[in-house]
Amino acid sequence: MESASEINPESQYPLIPFPAHLQAQAGKFIIDENTVLQSNEKEEKVNLLLREFAQQIKTATTYTLAITPEGSQKNAIVFRLDKSIENTEGYALSVQVDRIVLRAKNPAGLFYGVQTLRQLLPLEFEKPTSSPQISWAIPAVEIKDEPRFPYRGMHLDVARHFLKVDKVKKFIDQIAYHKFNHFHWHLTDDQGWRIEIKKYPKLTEVGGFRSGTLIGHYNDQPHQYDKKRYGGFYTQEDIKEVVQYAAERFITVIPEIELPGHAQAALAAYPELACENKNYSVWRIWGISTNIFCPTPATFDFLENVFDEVIPLFPGKYIHIGGDEAPKTKWQESAFCQRLMRQEGLENEMALQSYFIRRIEKHINSKGKQIIGWDEILEGGLAPNATVMSWRGIEGGIEAAKAGHDVIMTPTSHCYLDYYQSDHPDEPVAIGGFIPLEKIYQYDPIPDELSPSEAKHILGSQGNLWSEYLPNFEQVEYMAFPRVCALSEVVWSPQDQRDFDHFVERISFHTNRLAAMGINVANHLYDLSSSIQPKDGAVEVEIEALAKDGQIRYTLDGGEPTLQSSLYSNPIKVTTNQQIKAQSFLAEKPIGRSWQQNIRMHKAAGKKIVLKTLPHSKYSGGGPGSLINGANGNPERYGDAEWLGFDGKDLEAVIDLGKKETINTITFRFFIGEGQWIYLPKSIQVFTSEDGLDFIEKRRSKTIEGDQKLVKHVIALDAVQSRYLKVVAENYGIIPKGRQGEGNESWLFVDEIVVD
Ligand code: ACM
Repeated sequence: MESASEINPESQYPLIPFPAHLQAQAGKFIIDENTVLQSNEKEEKVNLLLREFAQQIKTATTYTLAITPEGSQKNAIVFRLDKSIENTEGYALSVQVDRIVLRAKNPAGLFYGVQTLRQLLPLEFEKPTSSPQISWAIPAVEIKDEPRFPYRGMHLDVARHFLKVDKVKKFIDQIAYHKFNHFHWHLTDDQGWRIEIKKYPKLTEVGGFRSGTLIGHYNDQPHQYDKKRYGGFYTQEDIKEVVQYAAERFITVIPEIELPGHAQAALAAYPELACENKNYSVWRIWGISTNIFCPTPATFDFLENVFDEVIPLFPGKYIHIGGDEAPKTKWQESAFCQRLMRQEGLENEMALQSYFIRRIEKHINSKGKQIIGWDEILEGGLAPNATVMSWRGIEGGIEAAKAGHDVIMTPTSHCYLDYYQSDHPDEPVAIGGFIPLEKIYQYDPIPDELSPSEAKHILGSQGNLWSEYLPNFEQVEYMAFPRVCALSEVVWSPQDQRDFDHFVERISFHTNRLAAMGINVANHLYDLSSSIQPKDGAVEVEIEALAKDGQIRYTLDGGEPTLQSSLYSNPIKVTTNQQIKAQSFLAEKPIGRSWQQNIRMHKAAGKKIVLKTLPHSKYSGGGPGSLINGANGNPERYGDAEWLGFDGKDLEAVIDLGKKETINTITFRFFIGEGQWIYLPKSIQVFTSEDGLDFIEKRRSKTIEGDQKLVKHVIALDAVQSRYLKVVAENYGIIPKGRQGEGNESWLFVDEIVVD
């Protein structure tokens, strides 16, 4: 079989994340049975790295290499600590034909240099079994490398779905290989408490298990549950083992103990910590429970005791206390909370949350640790020493940095790896959203709004893997890779050197390497995506694959594309109803998934549209033209290039049909997803106009109904004649009590306005 390393010989340095400075050199160093590993360092960590690298070499090559003090002989790989290297995590790697020298200020830098060396070797180096026939060549190179950010994090939620220690270690290996240095371990939530606390055994005995789990997606109605007891937890010995394993890979583990919300599993174990003392069960459904910790002396005693057991297990400086998504209804209804607010002079429940967090911070600070909280901890006033994880957007991060607090950027727009990575209908079910590889790659964690001194508070960025829809580790890997690779360059590589096309060349090769490691990597590089835009009365369909080395072939007659089908080179112009099918080919073979799109031409398709209010930048589809391009978005989910999402705002659009037309109906396609706070509009108005200036109301519809995810709403106009149309779909408004996201603004999602 042809090996992938031979398919792509020009990619001599397919490194991810790409180093800060790399100078290609001629020739190569070859590891053979006489190669020696050398070091004069006494530090045990360095010797551990050498032994570890020797073991990896043995597994791949079968060679048992000697480890000796540094000498002058050839065919040696030297590890050296060098205080002249400035960055605490930086390294310099010199690969010459007869000698490799890896230098770093600290063992961490040597570790990163080893990861680079591994990636310079043929990908067979990463296979779990030896490949004796390979030439173990490392291309000559001079690398000087250091990270852009000191905080490079990946988060993993083990509360919604539990992962055993061996899987958590595998995840740590994978992120360490990409030079991440923090692992944020989300250990408690409404659906499970996963860390042993000896003083409170019921937290894991009761809180660690639920009686069943939601089947399918939250938006599938009615909700159905399996009846399987589900759960698990880590003993304190397990935790120590993971923390030690991570430390050997220069990863600091940050535990997250959620408060005051996402606490229902804890309340199932100790209901006296809630505002209403009744029976709670560990939650079987996804979302946000309104049952939260009550700020009583008993709760503070409990949480302090919990932290007193958690803190000694985690040597890093941070403890994450959650702080996100804590509905305040139970506090509003609680006489105790209202009295406490009056006593403490707290204006509202936000201030009470702030009081809660400050008390916890004080305790954690007294043990020598710092807190991190999700950006809701800004509401009601930030605790004095808190670091903020900005997730609902970047605004919280900007506010915190301007106030002099440290910030980790992890906005839902770029960093939520539980969101869909492809809009292909065959994707495994995910929570929603759409964050393809290029979206993550394009992320810059430093907001333009910050001055250079404020920007120093941005410690870095993190990817989040919430696990509602990640039932097993295979699915974790599928969602993580290759997007973690893109994020690794966001946090490691110099901003001015990042180039998506260069990344795509390397990720093609790197994907094969990850597969060789046994990672269930998602490979969508040859899948097709489209941009469909109205233009001069027609619709133009542009198709592309991320990888540019293939060919795209397509059909317009409904047939499956073959090597004989038309070769795609320019956008396809569509003027009548049309089905387009397309497929990537590489080396004369189909590669990637097949693609198809129906274009349904109607009186507005291809015409002009102007929006009065723009959709949210996260959900702006392919621009306003997506509403009149004859193409529908994925009927199962929003977030692709067809759907436009308006947060708390109405959809108000003026369509110019180009000439006076007879209009019988206008059909809207809306998406409902109460789990994602997406609602139907409250009303729809339709206006007509002769000149595009003065509009006359023609219809008003106040009953827009539907219980499926996708709702088509038709407005009949009885052969009205008009050139201009104005439509206003009124946002549902504030989400009512008792629903997911209560009290927040709802979203309105629409993908097409069909005029017939
Ligand atoms: C979050 O995603 N609730 C932090």
